[in-house]
Amino acid sequence: MTRFIVFANRKGGCSKTTTAVNVAHALAMEGQKVLLIDADPQAHATIALGIPPLSRKCHILHLLREEAPFNDAVFQTHIPGVCLIPASRELGSFELDFSTRTGSETLLSESLYEDAPGFDYLIFDPPPTAGLLTVSTLVAAQEVFIPMQMHFLAMEGLAEIMHLIYTVNATHNANLQLSAIIPTFFNKKTRLAREITEDIVKNFGADKLLHGIRMNISLAEAPGHGKSIFEYAPQSCGAQDYLEVAHKIDGFRKG
Ligand SMILES: Nc1ncnc2c1ncn2[C@@H]1O[C@H](COP(=O)(O)OP(=O)(O)OP(=O)(O)O)[C@@H](O)[C@H]1O
Ligand SMILES: [Mg+2]
Repeated sequence: MTRFIVFANRKGGCSKTTTAVNVAHALAMEGQKVLLIDADPQAHATIALGIPPLSRKCHILHLLREEAPFNDAVFQTHIPGVCLIPASRELGSFELDFSTRTGSETLLSESLYEDAPGFDYLIFDPPPTAGLLTVSTLVAAQEVFIPMQMHFLAMEGLAEIMHLIYTVNATHNANLQLSAIIPTFFNKKTRLAREITEDIVKNFGADKLLHGIRMNISLAEAPGHGKSIFEYAPQSCGAQDYLEVAHKIDGFRKG
């Protein structure tokens, strides 16, 4: 069965895209067929995979506007097992044009469901907002993983994304659930990281906390080369951490 996963957080720069790209590659290395869906007008997942956003004729906006069929929007990346529906800055117009139209939130899910069975995983990379694009990914997904820094203010972002999940549960997608929180830029030696970690365990349970991703400069350098961490620095701690997280995600079963 295809699993629909979103790495979401209202907070910017918490490693959503880095996690989406590297988990996608790690799952593909385990033999899974992955479709990564760049749902962010910043097009960072597209760029991180070495694809200049305007080089593709079709991207997610064409799919959402029903101007292109699924197969035209899907692009086989240089990574075996990883396909991408790219984004471009023009995607910002979707929120402007469609936000007030009824039913806009389901356009993404409707454009994907029929063709998804060819993939083991659909992974969404939404923007750091609570707008139509993020909501569309939550309507389309089944499982939410929240990458977050173990900082006090990040707990505010966590509360916001949880609220959004409950709203989408009530309105469009009763199946959507929080699968786990992924600590990012993680340094277990700091007292703050320990305190926030304990707080999460107390509120959500230990099973909702995944292996932390350590700060690793190779993770920040890799997108500049259009490579995942497994291509750019396979021996790095970033590669080790993402392999561990992807392994856990693959072992997760819904319900
Ligand atoms: N563990 C890490 N160690 C070092 N740098 C990291 C790590 N994770 C992410 N980065 C870098 O931090 C920046 C933000 O990460 P990323 O773009 O993945 O966050 P994001 O949540 O997708 O951001 P946005 O909210 O803008 O979409 C990027 O430059 C990325 O390369
Ligand atoms: Mg991003």
